[in-house]
Amino acid sequence: DASDLEKGTYPYYMLKEIDEQPAVMRNIIQKYQNAEGRLTVPEELTTAMLEADRIHIVACGTSYHSGWVGKHYLEKIAQIPTEVHVASEFSYNPPLLKGNPFFIFLTQSGETADSRQVLVKVKEWGYPALTITNVAGSTLSREADYTLLLHAGPEIAVASTKAYTAQIAVLAVLSDALGARMGHDMGIDMVHELGIVANAMEAVIDDKERIAELADIYLPNTRNAFYIGRGLDYFVSMEAALKLKEISYIQTEGFAAGELKHGTIALIEEGTPVLAIITQADVASHTRGNVEEVRSRGANTCVFAMEGLANENDQIILPAVHPALAPLMTVVPTQLMAYYATLHRGYDVDKPRNLAKSVTVE
Ligand code: G6P
Repeated sequence: DASDLEKGTYPYYMLKEIDEQPAVMRNIIQKYQNAEGRLTVPEELTTAMLEADRIHIVACGTSYHSGWVGKHYLEKIAQIPTEVHVASEFSYNPPLLKGNPFFIFLTQSGETADSRQVLVKVKEWGYPALTITNVAGSTLSREADYTLLLHAGPEIAVASTKAYTAQIAVLAVLSDALGARMGHDMGIDMVHELGIVANAMEAVIDDKERIAELADIYLPNTRNAFYIGRGLDYFVSMEAALKLKEISYIQTEGFAAGELKHGTIALIEEGTPVLAIITQADVASHTRGNVEEVRSRGANTCVFAMEGLANENDQIILPAVHPALAPLMTVVPTQLMAYYATLHRGYDVDKPRNLAKSVTVE
Protein backbone atom coordinates (compact mmCIF):
# COMPACT_ATOMS: atom_id res chain seq x y z
CA ASP A 1 0.00 0.00 0.00
CA ALA A 2 0.94 3.66 -0.16
CA SER A 3 2.40 3.71 3.34
CA ASP A 4 4.68 0.78 2.47
CA LEU A 5 6.03 2.82 -0.44
CA GLU A 6 7.07 5.59 1.94
CA LYS A 7 9.05 3.02 3.86
CA GLY A 8 11.22 2.56 0.77
CA THR A 9 13.82 -0.13 1.31
CA TYR A 10 13.48 -0.05 5.09
CA PRO A 11 11.98 -3.12 6.78
CA TYR A 12 10.41 -0.93 9.47
CA TYR A 13 9.45 2.71 9.92
CA MET A 14 11.36 2.80 13.17
CA LEU A 15 14.69 2.19 11.42
CA LYS A 16 13.84 4.79 8.76
CA GLU A 17 12.96 7.31 11.45
CA ILE A 18 16.15 6.60 13.42
CA ASP A 19 18.11 7.15 10.19
CA GLU A 20 16.32 10.45 9.53
CA GLN A 21 17.55 12.07 12.73
CA PRO A 22 20.68 13.76 11.30
CA ALA A 23 18.51 15.30 8.56
CA VAL A 24 15.97 16.44 11.17
CA MET A 25 18.76 18.20 13.10
CA ARG A 26 19.85 19.98 9.90
CA ASN A 27 16.25 20.89 9.15
CA ILE A 28 15.82 22.40 12.62
CA ILE A 29 18.99 24.45 12.08
CA GLN A 30 17.52 25.76 8.83
CA LYS A 31 14.00 26.46 10.15
CA TYR A 32 15.10 28.23 13.33
CA GLN A 33 17.86 30.36 11.77
CA ASN A 34 17.24 34.11 11.69
CA ALA A 35 18.63 36.68 9.22
CA GLU A 36 21.85 36.94 11.23
CA GLY A 37 22.35 33.18 11.04
CA ARG A 38 21.53 32.62 14.71
CA LEU A 39 19.04 30.02 15.93
CA THR A 40 16.16 31.69 17.69
CA VAL A 41 12.41 31.70 18.34
CA PRO A 42 9.86 34.51 17.90
CA GLU A 43 10.54 37.43 20.24
CA GLU A 44 6.95 37.56 21.48
CA LEU A 45 7.45 34.05 22.86
CA THR A 46 10.65 34.84 24.75
CA THR A 47 9.05 38.07 26.04
CA ALA A 48 6.12 36.08 27.46
CA MET A 49 8.40 33.45 28.95
CA LEU A 50 10.68 35.98 30.61
CA GLU A 51 7.69 37.25 32.57
CA ALA A 52 7.33 33.81 34.15
CA ASP A 53 8.84 32.90 37.49
CA ARG A 54 8.32 29.19 36.92
CA ILE A 55 7.89 26.94 33.92
CA HIS A 56 5.77 23.79 34.00
CA ILE A 57 6.44 21.20 31.31
CA VAL A 58 3.53 18.81 30.77
CA ALA A 59 3.77 15.67 28.62
CA CYS A 60 3.30 11.91 28.34
CA GLY A 61 5.56 9.00 27.38
CA THR A 62 8.62 9.81 25.35
CA SER A 63 7.71 13.50 25.28
CA TYR A 64 7.78 13.46 29.09
CA HIS A 65 11.35 12.19 28.92
CA SER A 66 12.48 14.97 26.57
CA GLY A 67 10.85 17.30 29.09
CA TRP A 68 13.49 16.37 31.66
CA VAL A 69 16.25 17.41 29.30
CA GLY A 70 14.26 20.59 28.64
CA LYS A 71 14.09 21.32 32.37
CA HIS A 72 17.87 21.01 32.54
CA TYR A 73 18.27 23.54 29.68
CA LEU A 74 15.68 25.97 30.99
CA GLU A 75 17.28 25.99 34.43
CA LYS A 76 20.95 25.88 33.42
CA ILE A 77 20.78 28.18 30.40
CA ALA A 78 17.70 30.35 30.81
CA GLN A 79 17.82 30.15 34.64
CA ILE A 80 14.07 29.83 35.09
CA PRO A 81 12.91 27.25 37.70
CA THR A 82 11.21 24.44 35.80
CA GLU A 83 9.10 21.44 36.78
CA VAL A 84 8.23 18.43 34.64
CA HIS A 85 4.84 16.74 34.98
CA VAL A 86 3.18 13.61 33.69
CA ALA A 87 -0.05 15.00 32.20
CA SER A 88 -2.38 12.38 33.71
CA GLU A 89 -1.02 13.16 37.19
CA PHE A 90 -1.21 16.91 36.76
CA SER A 91 -4.91 16.67 35.84
CA TYR A 92 -5.99 15.37 39.22
CA ASN A 93 -3.08 16.39 41.44
CA PRO A 94 -1.88 19.72 40.10
CA PRO A 95 1.11 21.33 41.79
CA LEU A 96 0.73 24.52 43.81
CA LEU A 97 0.58 27.32 41.25
CA LYS A 98 1.68 30.75 42.44
CA GLY A 99 3.00 33.88 40.78
CA ASN A 100 3.41 33.77 37.02
CA PRO A 101 3.64 30.22 35.73
CA PHE A 102 4.25 29.49 32.05
CA PHE A 103 3.28 26.13 30.54
CA ILE A 104 5.04 24.10 27.89
CA PHE A 105 3.20 21.15 26.35
CA LEU A 106 5.45 18.64 24.64
CA THR A 107 3.52 16.42 22.27
CA GLN A 108 4.66 14.82 19.03
CA SER A 109 1.12 14.35 17.75
CA GLY A 110 -0.48 17.39 19.35
CA GLU A 111 -3.51 15.19 20.04
CA THR A 112 -2.81 13.35 23.31
CA ALA A 113 -5.95 13.56 25.47
CA ASP A 114 -4.13 13.53 28.82
CA SER A 115 -2.03 16.53 27.82
CA ARG A 116 -4.96 18.34 26.24
CA GLN A 117 -6.99 18.00 29.41
CA VAL A 118 -4.29 19.95 31.27
CA LEU A 119 -4.07 22.59 28.53
CA VAL A 120 -7.84 23.18 28.75
CA LYS A 121 -7.49 23.81 32.51
CA VAL A 122 -4.45 26.04 32.05
CA LYS A 123 -6.38 28.20 29.61
CA GLU A 124 -9.36 28.34 32.00
CA TRP A 125 -6.99 29.56 34.69
CA GLY A 126 -5.67 32.17 32.25
CA TYR A 127 -2.02 31.10 32.13
CA PRO A 128 0.09 31.34 28.96
CA ALA A 129 1.01 28.14 27.12
CA LEU A 130 3.39 26.99 24.42
CA THR A 131 2.96 23.73 22.52
CA ILE A 132 6.02 22.08 20.99
CA THR A 133 4.70 19.60 18.45
CA ASN A 134 5.42 17.85 15.20
CA VAL A 135 1.97 18.51 13.76
CA ALA A 136 1.04 22.01 12.60
CA GLY A 137 -2.64 22.70 13.19
CA SER A 138 -3.00 19.90 15.76
CA THR A 139 -5.41 20.38 18.67
CA LEU A 140 -2.78 21.30 21.25
CA SER A 141 -1.14 23.67 18.79
CA ARG A 142 -4.42 25.45 18.04
CA GLU A 143 -5.41 25.75 21.68
CA ALA A 144 -2.08 27.09 23.00
CA ASP A 145 -0.90 30.71 22.71
CA TYR A 146 2.34 29.77 20.99
CA THR A 147 3.60 26.86 18.91
CA LEU A 148 7.08 25.69 18.02
CA LEU A 149 7.23 22.97 15.37
CA LEU A 150 9.60 20.02 15.40
CA HIS A 151 9.96 19.87 11.60
CA ALA A 152 10.73 16.16 11.94
CA GLY A 153 8.38 14.91 9.21
CA PRO A 154 5.65 12.34 9.94
CA GLU A 155 6.55 9.81 12.61
CA ILE A 156 4.76 6.53 11.90
CA ALA A 157 6.39 3.91 14.16
CA VAL A 158 4.62 3.72 17.53
CA ALA A 159 7.97 3.96 19.34
CA SER A 160 8.99 7.60 19.09
CA THR A 161 12.57 8.32 18.00
CA LYS A 162 13.08 11.39 15.83
CA ALA A 163 10.40 13.36 17.67
CA TYR A 164 12.35 12.88 20.92
CA THR A 165 15.59 14.25 19.48
CA ALA A 166 13.73 17.04 17.65
CA GLN A 167 12.03 18.06 20.91
CA ILE A 168 15.37 18.24 22.69
CA ALA A 169 16.93 20.29 19.87
CA VAL A 170 14.00 22.75 19.88
CA LEU A 171 14.15 22.99 23.68
CA ALA A 172 17.88 23.79 23.42
CA VAL A 173 17.19 26.49 20.83
CA LEU A 174 14.39 27.93 22.97
CA SER A 175 16.53 27.94 26.13
CA ASP A 176 19.46 29.48 24.29
CA ALA A 177 17.18 32.21 22.86
CA LEU A 178 15.88 32.96 26.37
CA GLY A 179 19.39 32.94 27.79
CA ALA A 180 20.61 35.27 25.04
CA ARG A 181 17.93 37.81 25.94
CA MET A 182 18.94 37.57 29.58
CA GLY A 183 22.62 37.91 28.75
CA HIS A 184 23.63 34.37 29.67
CA ASP A 185 23.25 32.09 26.67
CA MET A 186 24.97 28.73 26.33
CA GLY A 187 28.11 30.44 25.11
CA ILE A 188 28.11 28.00 22.25
CA ASP A 189 27.35 28.42 18.60
CA MET A 190 24.16 26.37 18.27
CA VAL A 191 24.34 26.19 14.46
CA HIS A 192 27.82 24.73 14.71
CA GLU A 193 27.13 22.42 17.67
CA LEU A 194 23.87 21.01 16.28
CA GLY A 195 25.75 20.41 13.02
CA ILE A 196 28.33 18.40 14.96
CA VAL A 197 25.48 16.48 16.60
CA ALA A 198 24.05 15.63 13.16
CA ASN A 199 27.42 14.27 12.04
CA ALA A 200 27.83 12.32 15.29
CA MET A 201 24.37 10.78 14.86
CA GLU A 202 25.38 9.74 11.35
CA ALA A 203 28.55 8.08 12.62
CA VAL A 204 26.54 6.11 15.21
CA ILE A 205 23.95 5.09 12.63
CA ASP A 206 26.71 3.98 10.21
CA ASP A 207 27.91 1.67 13.00
CA LYS A 208 24.53 -0.06 13.35
CA GLU A 209 25.88 -3.55 12.55
CA ARG A 210 28.04 -3.30 15.66
CA ILE A 211 25.05 -2.24 17.75
CA ALA A 212 23.07 -5.18 16.33
CA GLU A 213 25.87 -7.46 17.61
CA LEU A 214 25.84 -5.78 21.01
CA ALA A 215 22.07 -6.28 21.22
CA ASP A 216 22.72 -10.01 20.77
CA ILE A 217 25.48 -10.09 23.35
CA TYR A 218 23.94 -7.86 26.03
CA LEU A 219 20.21 -8.36 25.52
CA PRO A 220 19.92 -12.08 24.83
CA ASN A 221 17.03 -14.07 26.31
CA THR A 222 16.81 -11.80 29.29
CA ARG A 223 13.59 -10.89 31.08
CA ASN A 224 14.90 -7.64 32.50
CA ALA A 225 17.52 -4.97 31.97
CA PHE A 226 18.66 -1.64 33.38
CA TYR A 227 19.92 1.60 31.92
CA ILE A 228 21.84 3.83 34.32
CA GLY A 229 23.35 7.31 34.15
CA ARG A 230 23.60 10.57 36.06
CA GLY A 231 22.28 14.00 35.17
CA LEU A 232 21.52 14.27 31.45
CA ASP A 233 22.60 10.64 31.10
CA TYR A 234 19.94 9.64 33.63
CA PHE A 235 17.27 11.37 31.57
CA VAL A 236 18.42 9.51 28.47
CA SER A 237 18.44 6.28 30.53
CA MET A 238 14.73 6.74 31.26
CA GLU A 239 13.96 7.12 27.56
CA ALA A 240 16.30 4.29 26.56
CA ALA A 241 14.50 2.01 29.03
CA LEU A 242 11.06 3.00 27.74
CA LYS A 243 12.14 2.36 24.14
CA LEU A 244 13.50 -1.07 24.98
CA LYS A 245 10.54 -2.17 27.10
CA GLU A 246 7.82 -0.89 24.81
CA ILE A 247 8.91 -2.82 21.74
CA SER A 248 10.99 -5.80 22.96
CA TYR A 249 8.89 -6.44 26.11
CA ILE A 250 12.08 -6.78 28.18
CA GLN A 251 11.21 -5.27 31.54
CA THR A 252 13.65 -2.35 31.64
CA GLU A 253 14.18 0.39 34.17
CA GLY A 254 16.06 3.62 33.66
CA PHE A 255 17.75 4.53 36.91
CA ALA A 256 19.81 7.30 38.42
CA ALA A 257 23.11 5.43 38.71
CA GLY A 258 23.74 6.48 42.31
CA GLU A 259 20.24 5.51 43.46
CA LEU A 260 20.47 1.89 42.34
CA LYS A 261 22.27 0.84 45.52
CA HIS A 262 19.37 2.12 47.65
CA GLY A 263 17.10 -0.79 46.77
CA THR A 264 16.99 -1.76 43.14
CA ILE A 265 20.46 -3.31 43.17
CA ALA A 266 18.74 -6.27 44.89
CA LEU A 267 17.49 -7.24 41.43
CA ILE A 268 20.98 -7.66 39.99
CA GLU A 269 21.81 -11.33 39.47
CA GLU A 270 24.32 -13.24 37.43
CA GLY A 271 23.91 -12.01 33.85
CA THR A 272 21.47 -9.13 34.42
CA PRO A 273 22.15 -6.61 31.65
CA VAL A 274 23.09 -3.13 32.91
CA LEU A 275 23.74 -0.53 30.24
CA ALA A 276 25.48 2.63 31.42
CA ILE A 277 25.61 6.01 29.66
CA ILE A 278 28.62 8.23 30.37
CA THR A 279 28.89 11.66 28.72
CA GLN A 280 29.13 14.13 31.60
CA ALA A 281 32.67 14.77 32.89
CA ASP A 282 31.65 15.84 36.41
CA VAL A 283 29.90 12.55 37.19
CA ALA A 284 31.67 10.10 34.86
CA SER A 285 33.86 8.54 37.57
CA HIS A 286 30.85 8.19 39.87
CA THR A 287 28.88 6.33 37.22
CA ARG A 288 31.91 4.12 36.56
CA GLY A 289 31.91 3.31 40.27
CA ASN A 290 28.26 2.26 39.98
CA VAL A 291 29.10 0.08 36.97
CA GLU A 292 31.72 -1.68 39.11
CA GLU A 293 29.20 -2.16 41.93
CA VAL A 294 26.80 -4.04 39.67
CA ARG A 295 29.53 -5.87 37.77
CA SER A 296 30.89 -7.29 41.01
CA ARG A 297 27.38 -8.62 41.71
CA GLY A 298 27.27 -10.46 38.40
CA ALA A 299 25.73 -7.88 36.05
CA ASN A 300 26.55 -8.06 32.36
CA THR A 301 27.63 -4.44 31.93
CA CYS A 302 27.71 -2.52 28.65
CA VAL A 303 29.14 1.00 28.71
CA PHE A 304 28.26 3.71 26.16
CA ALA A 305 30.80 6.49 26.76
CA MET A 306 31.62 9.67 24.92
CA GLU A 307 35.07 10.19 23.47
CA GLY A 308 37.26 11.92 26.02
CA LEU A 309 35.55 10.05 28.87
CA ALA A 310 35.82 6.57 27.37
CA ASN A 311 38.04 3.64 28.33
CA GLU A 312 39.33 1.19 25.78
CA ASN A 313 37.17 -1.54 27.36
CA ASP A 314 33.95 0.38 26.79
CA GLN A 315 31.53 -1.34 24.43
CA ILE A 316 30.48 1.79 22.53
CA ILE A 317 32.64 4.88 22.20
CA LEU A 318 30.48 7.75 20.99
CA PRO A 319 31.79 10.74 19.03
CA ALA A 320 32.34 13.89 21.08
CA VAL A 321 29.63 16.55 20.97
CA HIS A 322 28.96 19.54 23.24
CA PRO A 323 28.16 17.86 26.60
CA ALA A 324 24.87 19.76 26.96
CA LEU A 325 23.71 18.30 23.65
CA ALA A 326 24.92 14.76 24.40
CA PRO A 327 21.38 13.35 24.88
CA LEU A 328 20.71 13.99 21.19
CA MET A 329 23.50 11.64 20.25
CA THR A 330 23.54 9.08 23.07
CA VAL A 331 19.89 8.17 22.63
CA VAL A 332 20.59 6.95 19.07
CA PRO A 333 22.53 3.77 20.00
CA THR A 334 19.86 2.99 22.62
CA GLN A 335 17.15 3.31 19.94
CA LEU A 336 19.15 0.91 17.77
CA MET A 337 19.65 -1.50 20.70
CA ALA A 338 15.86 -1.55 21.19
CA TYR A 339 15.28 -2.02 17.47
CA TYR A 340 17.66 -4.96 17.11
CA ALA A 341 16.68 -6.63 20.39
CA THR A 342 13.09 -6.59 19.12
CA LEU A 343 13.99 -7.75 15.62
CA HIS A 344 15.99 -10.63 17.07
CA ARG A 345 12.99 -11.65 19.14
CA GLY A 346 10.80 -11.67 16.06
CA TYR A 347 8.30 -9.02 17.16
CA ASP A 348 6.75 -6.33 14.98
CA VAL A 349 8.99 -3.34 15.70
CA ASP A 350 6.51 -0.76 14.45
CA LYS A 351 3.38 -2.10 16.13
CA PRO A 352 4.01 -3.18 19.71
CA ARG A 353 1.14 -4.86 21.50
CA ASN A 354 -1.28 -2.78 23.59
CA LEU A 355 0.10 0.56 22.35
CA ALA A 356 -1.20 3.27 20.03
CA LYS A 357 0.78 6.01 18.34
CA SER A 358 -1.49 8.68 19.66
CA VAL A 359 -3.80 8.17 22.62
CA THR A 360 -6.82 10.43 22.19
CA VAL A 361 -8.79 9.07 25.14
CA GLU A 362 -8.06 9.82 28.77
C1 G6P B 1 1.53 7.35 23.19
C2 G6P B 1 2.71 6.78 22.38
C3 G6P B 1 4.04 7.22 22.97
C4 G6P B 1 4.06 8.73 23.09
C5 G6P B 1 2.90 9.25 23.94
C6 G6P B 1 2.81 10.76 23.92
O1 G6P B 1 1.42 6.69 24.39
O2 G6P B 1 2.65 5.37 22.35
O3 G6P B 1 5.10 6.81 22.12
O4 G6P B 1 5.29 9.14 23.64
O5 G6P B 1 1.67 8.76 23.41
O6 G6P B 1 2.51 11.17 22.62
P1 G6P B 1 2.63 12.65 22.14
O7 G6P B 1 2.11 12.64 20.72
O8 G6P B 1 1.76 13.49 23.04
O9 G6P B 1 4.06 13.04 22.20
